[in-house]
Amino acid sequence: MISAFPSDLGIVSIGAAVPERILTNEELSRRVDTSDEWIQSRTGIRERRIAGPDEWGSDLALRAAEQALDRAGIAPAAIDLVVVGSASPERFFPSTAAIVADRLGAHSAAAYDLLAACSGFAYGLAQAAGQLQAGMVEHALVIGSETLSRILDWDDRSTCILFGDGAGAVVMSRAAQAEAMLAIELGADGAHGLDLYADTLRSEDRVIRMNGREVFRFASRVMVESSARVLERAGLTIDDVDWFIPHQANKRIIDYAVERLAIDPARVLVNLDRYGNTSSASIPLCLEEAWRAGRIERGDRVLMVGFGGGLTWGSCLTTWAGDGPASGGGIG
Ligand code: UT7
Repeated sequence: MISAFPSDLGIVSIGAAVPERILTNEELSRRVDTSDEWIQSRTGIRERRIAGPDEWGSDLALRAAEQALDRAGIAPAAIDLVVVGSASPERFFPSTAAIVADRLGAHSAAAYDLLAACSGFAYGLAQAAGQLQAGMVEHALVIGSETLSRILDWDDRSTCILFGDGAGAVVMSRAAQAEAMLAIELGADGAHGLDLYADTLRSEDRVIRMNGREVFRFASRVMVESSARVLERAGLTIDDVDWFIPHQANKRIIDYAVERLAIDPARVLVNLDRYGNTSSASIPLCLEEAWRAGRIERGDRVLMVGFGGGLTWGSCLTTWAGDGPASGGGIG
């Protein structure tokens, strides 16, 4: 599915939250047969954050959402929609979104979770963009939130080294910026779903299982092809993109895509060295860091590409429609 949005809706604000606890490669190598050298050279990851015993996806999502709303200068009561992408929700139901909406005070909002694993943020953006374009909502919160540390097999060195916990949230609104949301592509290939999965009812083995090589192959291909398709749909080329934010899964996958897309590495945002793969939170965590550093300015074109369990993928080409950090973010 690919859609273009020749309208004035866009991302106007962002927030993020990560747990305090840092787990280094060194510490991991005392638990499983691995090394800092192997993890860094094969993945680019140095450390990741791990949620505390009483810290859940809804707690991280709430913190990220509060920050995004505060920066936007939008009251929780004005939010019409809360969508949370998560592969590690704390309950089947109520949804994390409903918990967050209540704790925020977003009592007028529709709230639901969606499950597209690491593509959850891109899927959430598409949901909000569609509803904004249809005039169903004025302000939407799109959140990616994960405590993947709770669904890892800490004895499986091929997966436990990869993932981390965190959350990112954006506010999407009708913005002053013309043509803010340019194009979105979503896709799924369930035939290869068991290359990356975590069970719920089907098995007591409720941890992430992965065929790393197959996912690597899929990810490298889809990141390049999907990026090219959204650019084409928007009538732009890679040279028109100011910032490329790939899903933060493996530095080698990112490097491959950057080379094939021929994008200037200075325009590629990467923070997986410090957070690992935080699934649906990875893109907004990276975007927030760049925004906070003052790197992303109103009008900048941002290309975000996610991929993951399903298998799924999602690409979103947008124009940053909020202010910079000096003026507190927001619609301006
Ligand atoms: O959001 C989407 C989530 N998933 C992904 O994006 C994962 C995509 N895949 C990957 O990132 C990579 O496939 C991995 C990082 C998971 C693995 O890297 P690789 O270069 O594809 O390694 P490999 O699976 O080909 O394994 C090479 C060797 C194996 O040993 P043998 O069979 O050659 O003796 C593994 O047992 O590396 C071994 N190995 C490790 N060694 C040290 C696997 N994990 C580790 C480890 N430390 N943590």
